[in-house]
Amino acid sequence: MMDKLAVYIHWPYCARICPYCDFNVFKRREDDSLLPAILADLEYWRDFSGPRDITSIHFGGGTPSLMTPMQIGAVIEAVNRLWGADAVEIALEANPHEMNETDWRAYRDAGLNRMSLGVQSFQDSALSFLGRDHDGQTAQAALELALDIFPSVSADLIFGWAGQTEKNLDTDLDILLASDVPHISTYQLTIEEGTAFAKAEGRGQKKAVDADSSADLYERVRTVLTGAGYDHYEVSNFAKSGHRSRHNLAYWQGLDYIGVGPGAHGRLTAGGKRYATIAHLTPGDYVNSVSETGSGIESNDRLTPEEFATEYLLMGLRIEKGISLSRYAFIAGHTLSEKQMDYLISDGFLRRSGDRLSATLAGRNVLNSVTEKLLLG
Ligand SMILES: C[S@@+](CC[C@H](N)C(=O)[O-])C[C@H]1O[C@@H](n2cnc3c(N)ncnc32)[C@H](O)[C@@H]1O
Ligand code: SF4
Repeated sequence: MMDKLAVYIHWPYCARICPYCDFNVFKRREDDSLLPAILADLEYWRDFSGPRDITSIHFGGGTPSLMTPMQIGAVIEAVNRLWGADAVEIALEANPHEMNETDWRAYRDAGLNRMSLGVQSFQDSALSFLGRDHDGQTAQAALELALDIFPSVSADLIFGWAGQTEKNLDTDLDILLASDVPHISTYQLTIEEGTAFAKAEGRGQKKAVDADSSADLYERVRTVLTGAGYDHYEVSNFAKSGHRSRHNLAYWQGLDYIGVGPGAHGRLTAGGKRYATIAHLTPGDYVNSVSETGSGIESNDRLTPEEFATEYLLMGLRIEKGISLSRYAFIAGHTLSEKQMDYLISDGFLRRSGDRLSATLAGRNVLNSVTEKLLLG
């Protein structure tokens, strides 16, 4: 039996563009054409995937909390109708700034059962450094409201901005722990090419801490959250029992997901082949493509077994439980090098238990070089 399918919906609009963000985002505008295009694109995807059970629907962005409850409901209804199965996890990324109790309760009524809140920090100085449009009090109020309405809630935190101290980080972690939010994603601030932060750094303004301080802050996050009973189940993710993100686990486990909406990426296995898709980036091109061809896909490439296996390894070693060596061999058509595995195990970067190969904490900290060595053969 095929694994369940994850559905990703990309809503690309934001009230304003944050200076560190390099996601496929556009300044918010009235747009009546995007939702009908997404609904039509879903029909195309149903033909492409064939009948499958659905594990999750994930509204990402951008800022999908700018969608109305009617728009959210229409997508959920379409997915459940087309695939004939109810998704288990239905999640949405929300910005605290757009907190709206009436809409959020209506999202819940439409079937949404998990909210992922872009808190980033609870402190005004950090939020203003990050160019966010919410303050600490709003972040806290939004988190409380989300916890009141949704059965599962996750909070995103950014750490490692220039000048951040451990004490400052502790303040954010303390507030998160006091809220008892069951899932936390902690991202180290990354300076992405082309962003306002990258330009500022180019002019000599520091925006992120150096690598050593960042490693110290990450270690602090890990110690505090695991000490408070969260499982560190993925490099950046911590969860209480029953609250891991099913949707993101589909990515990390090399399972199938479809990417609907401008710039969305998908991975789908059909007829024994693995495809990598990317939708047209701009909302205009996406909508035109759907109306002309029925599909928003701009590129659809068949992955070679080697490419698929490499992705499986790269993503799989991010999670605590690692990869299945027999699945790797099945995908790649050959096994991983015993010699390289033995080296990396004896150096303390990997661990092996039966069919599973996973990264130790030291290995997770240098995952790129670990996977590079493993792939050397
Ligand atoms: C796809 S974003 C969307 C979430 C939502 N629009 C928001 O900003 O609140 C998901 C998360 O990625 C993280 N993120 C985005 N850009 C980042 C960067 N350059 N460095 C670190 N984390 C980043 C933020 O924590 C953000 O909440
Ligand atoms: S971080 Fe979130 S709100 Fe800010 S521009 Fe990116 S997607 Fe939009």
